[in-house]
Amino acid sequence: MEPVVEAPEWTEELSVGVDVIDEDHQAFFRLPALLKEIDSGDSDSSEMLTETVLNILEEYVEGHFLREQRALAAVDYPNLAEHIAAHDNFAAKVGDAIRAYRGGDKSGLAALGDMVVSWIVNHIMTMDKKYYGILSNDNVDSRPLVYLVEDTDNGALE
Ligand SMILES: [Fe+2]
Repeated sequence: MEPVVEAPEWTEELSVGVDVIDEDHQAFFRLPALLKEIDSGDSDSSEMLTETVLNILEEYVEGHFLREQRALAAVDYPNLAEHIAAHDNFAAKVGDAIRAYRGGDKSGLAALGDMVVSWIVNHIMTMDKKYYGILSNDNVDSRPLVYLVEDTDNGALE
């Protein structure tokens, strides 16, 4: 079957030298294609599938940023405040778009997927790349995202 849409792809150039962070980043790249594919499918199931994708996006935004921020905090990363501010700013934008969708405005969905990918490319190249060589497979928590979020819910330090 032909792919429904041409989606931008993660390439080695975007690697930050930490396997689990690269894997998290790759997941963001799959979102716009998923959203567009769902949109072109049968509408009965598309709402449920869209909601599933949005839940995954929320989990990635929260859990992936926690993963990075905790690892950066643990190495006393100098530009941490600036990095967290960039994450918070993006999380707020994604949150607004998801709330609008759930509130009945379906028009921004395709734009949301595209915004996620263009933000993540820009963020990796301008900010995440700066911790290349500082973070590694040895000092980043590689557990699935859900555990990172649970630690926070249980009062562990961010
Ligand atoms: Fe980041």
